[in-house]
Amino acid sequence: MTKQKIINLPKIKDKRGNLSFIEGENHIPFEIKRVYWIYDVPGGEHRGGHAFIEQSEFIVALSGSFDIEIDNGKYIETYRMNRSYYGLFVPKGLWRQMKNFSTNSLALVIASTVFNASDYIRDYKEFKLLVDEK
Ligand code: TYD
Repeated sequence: MTKQKIINLPKIKDKRGNLSFIEGENHIPFEIKRVYWIYDVPGGEHRGGHAFIEQSEFIVALSGSFDIEIDNGKYIETYRMNRSYYGLFVPKGLWRQMKNFSTNSLALVIASTVFNASDYIRDYKEFKLLVDEK
């Protein structure tokens, strides 16, 4: 199973303001098929709580902060996302949860597939079975 990893993005520093960018198959290891974002998250809410069969993702905190928990079925690692010049690459097959969103946080998610509801594993027991089979 491929492991998740933090990827630092280019940062063009400028006294007029900084600029970062992402090119599919260059800064992130997949072709970009979809972009979505999560915003207006009420205090204390969690997002995610699922795994994907095929989809890989890259998640950036464009504004504010939040935590991403990655569970590979054996152990959980938590990543604090609070800068817009790095993101977390989340390969397929990992259970992920996003929590501790700050006020006005904005999570950008870049996905390797178009939306497909049947790509989701939303039952943790099913996820564990799939992981334990591997
Ligand atoms: P979901 O992926 O479960 O959100 P999160 O992982 O952030 O908690 O998606 C929530 C709902 O939005 C679900 O009904 C599917 C729908 N959705 C789309 O229709 N298209 C999309 O690209 C995404 C990401 C979600």
